[in-house]
Amino acid sequence: MDALEQAVQVTFRFPVYFTTGVFTSANPVLHTLIAGASERLPSDTIAVVDDGVVRAHADVVAAFEGYCRDHSTAIRLAGPVLVLPGGEQVKNGLRYVDEVHRAIHDAALCRQSYVIAVGGGALLDAAGYAAATAHRGVRMIRIPTTVLAQDDSAVGVKNGVNAFGTKNYFGTFAPPFAVINDFSFLPTLADRDWRSGVSEAIKAALIKDAGFFADLEAWAPTIVARDARVMEQVVRRSAALHLAHIARGGDPFELGSSRPLDFGHWAAHKLELLTDHRLRHGETVGIGLALDCTYSWLSGWLPEADWRRILDLIQGIGLSVYAPELGEHLDQPDHPRSVLHGLEEFREHLGGRLTLLMLRSIGRPFEVHEVDRKVMIRSIDVLRRLEEARSVGSTAGLIHGLPRPQS
Ligand SMILES: NC(=O)c1ccc[n+]([C@@H]2O[C@H](COP(=O)([O-])OP(=O)(O)OC[C@H]3O[C@@H](n4cnc5c(N)ncnc54)[C@H](O)[C@@H]3O)[C@@H](O)[C@H]2O)c1
Ligand SMILES: [Zn+2]
Repeated sequence: MDALEQAVQVTFRFPVYFTTGVFTSANPVLHTLIAGASERLPSDTIAVVDDGVVRAHADVVAAFEGYCRDHSTAIRLAGPVLVLPGGEQVKNGLRYVDEVHRAIHDAALCRQSYVIAVGGGALLDAAGYAAATAHRGVRMIRIPTTVLAQDDSAVGVKNGVNAFGTKNYFGTFAPPFAVINDFSFLPTLADRDWRSGVSEAIKAALIKDAGFFADLEAWAPTIVARDARVMEQVVRRSAALHLAHIARGGDPFELGSSRPLDFGHWAAHKLELLTDHRLRHGETVGIGLALDCTYSWLSGWLPEADWRRILDLIQGIGLSVYAPELGEHLDQPDHPRSVLHGLEEFREHLGGRLTLLMLRSIGRPFEVHEVDRKVMIRSIDVLRRLEEARSVGSTAGLIHGLPRPQS
């Protein structure tokens, strides 16, 4: 065979800053970042802001515009600030991606210009997809404003929007130019958004760091009481674990079929769709983790004491471990509304053979390539009973009525 072999290596570096008051004039992070990285100054910039952030921080757009004026040697605002809906609606289809493309075009941004996106994980995903596909990639600075976006999604290398009834069907691997985690956005989050991002920290702890898991157990009451200092620790530690995995896990662009950071996510992604996004991503991740940990326990891999600690922590953060949609069409695994169908959809999205993580203990995951559907259905039943027990205020004695592990 006549063939030329080639290997292409590209190194990506991006900083993740932790700060407060990113748009106060005295805050150096944004303008020094841009001034230090641009061939032409001032650099053209547009901003895309989540309308939920605008509602909760009424001065955010004016503050950003004032910041650009105060640092006009570095930053030139090249178009009006674009305020888009926050939440999953912004990434359902291409409508808002089109708006960002249009704004990039109208502002005549070049590949060394900046799109600054301020918002939750959904808005960052949609704006990121637009920035990555205009001119094959305009620089993207992410300013995440939810716990989930700060401790997980914004520090990663992916973007995406939903299409054809599938989560993140369109999307690219595109490392950001920089990430700025500004803790002063978090206090205005609704309780559910404050808590739901903690599920991604629990996930990272379960697969990477048993010590962090123990800290989360100790912190759970203060997290629920909305202690900002403790949440900063959660965000920092979780973001660091995610970043370390991307940098050193050996497969940053997920070319293989294994995706450890998606522990618990096969059911989570399916549940987001089955509930028509009534549940947030982080809320479905809490359920997905509970499910795969229960499956690990019922399969005889995970000791009961570890399983109890995990379920206690998820419930202790105030997250559910069950949703009614989990129990639908379980006798028809190929039914599009059966959560079990999510296994095949997950396999298709990753490519190759089905690869899921399960747990041997907290901090010690391993891969499986097959799922025993009967055990999965029993796991779902265990979660239903646990959720019911919590809703009547007690789990005492429940364990005696639960099915026992197989081996
Ligand atoms: N790209 C990735 O690697 C990756 C990883 C994990 C999750 N995600 C995606 O992230 C999305 C979930 O993100 P999320 O949990 O941040 O939720 P979200 O983006 O849906 O935001 C939730 C709500 O919070 C509002 N909001 C945002 N910041 C606020 C603030 N500071 N104060 C008050 N309200 C605020 C938003 O307007 C929205 O109504 C999902 O679409 C998920 O698929 C992507
Ligand atoms: Zn996730």
